[in-house]
Amino acid sequence: MMEDVKKIGILTSGGDAPGMNAAVRAVTRAAIRKGFAVMGVHRGYNGLINGDMFELTERSVSDIIQRGGTMLYTARCPEFRYEEGIQKAKQNCVKHNLAGIVVIGGDGSFRGAADLSARGIPCVGLPGTIDNDIACTEYTIGYDTAMNTAMEMVDKLRDTSQSHDRCSVVEVMGRRAGYIALNAGIAVGATSIITTEVPYSIDDVCEKIMIAKSRGKQHFIIMVSEGIGNADGIAKEIENKTGVESRATILGHVQRGGSPTVRDRVVASQMGYYAVDLLARGIGNRVVGMQNNKIVDFDIQEALSMKKPFELDLYNIANELSF
Ligand code: ADP
Ligand code: F6P
Repeated sequence: MMEDVKKIGILTSGGDAPGMNAAVRAVTRAAIRKGFAVMGVHRGYNGLINGDMFELTERSVSDIIQRGGTMLYTARCPEFRYEEGIQKAKQNCVKHNLAGIVVIGGDGSFRGAADLSARGIPCVGLPGTIDNDIACTEYTIGYDTAMNTAMEMVDKLRDTSQSHDRCSVVEVMGRRAGYIALNAGIAVGATSIITTEVPYSIDDVCEKIMIAKSRGKQHFIIMVSEGIGNADGIAKEIENKTGVESRATILGHVQRGGSPTVRDRVVASQMGYYAVDLLARGIGNRVVGMQNNKIVDFDIQEALSMKKPFELDLYNIANELSF
């Protein structure tokens, strides 16, 4: 590689999400077409601090669009929260002639991207998290795959729940957000969806089960978001109060894996392409998002200060349909 060629770096940070590889591919190919060389950075901000990066070519990102996980590996990097860590990262960016960096991750990763941008290394964030909990965008890379995985898993649970006339209490991921619980909950016909965004009482949940039972329903799915937790406790309470035998299942990290859906591959490709266009124009400190189905970008600080409304209409529909 010629040393005076301008380069773009790319890293994945925070929790992985299906579609991150598709984004790495899109950024790499779009950047090469614009005349940049591309450096893949290993393990999030750790790779910038340690200088752990390598050249990506059109061919080194072949055969990854369909793979879950991230070929760049990901990590959480506490050192990057401090000035010393950021300065080490900056020195490596200068040493490797990086004209900008694409950071794929969540809000925490964007804070890091803002810190580095403020020190003269333009960074553009791409929303990559299964939680869909980034306020400036309707959609985050990985969300669709995770919802579909949750739905498929619960479909399997339903079979055994149905055979035994049981209630399945299913905890799905979403650290601070109930979007997976709500959408996958509707998709599996859950009797109740319990998330932190909407107050709930266990008595109301049990009453719903009893009403549905009196109308002939014999097995039940209760969807619980990770922020609520306590799936086991909820299952025990339901069993005690309704007499319906209940089991708790925590789906866990299976939701973070698997081959990305069409939607995740397409959005990752669109957003990756868009991010390179920003950096090629010398624009940094931005986050790429989706609004009204269009790809847009925001100043990182502005993006981090935004609030995302919960889909209450959808929640109400789920409630109406679940008896
Ligand atoms: P996510 O990006 O999915 O929200 P984290 O919150 O774990 O995941 O953040 C990922 C990484 O981003 C952290 O390990 C750290 O390296 C960096 N980071 C997080 N918060 C900050 C911050 N306030 N300032 C600088 N870097 C941060
Ligand atoms: O943010 C994505 C997510 O999968 C959350 O839903 C979950 O709470 C968290 O990451 C788990 O992170 P870890 O990788 O530390 O287990």
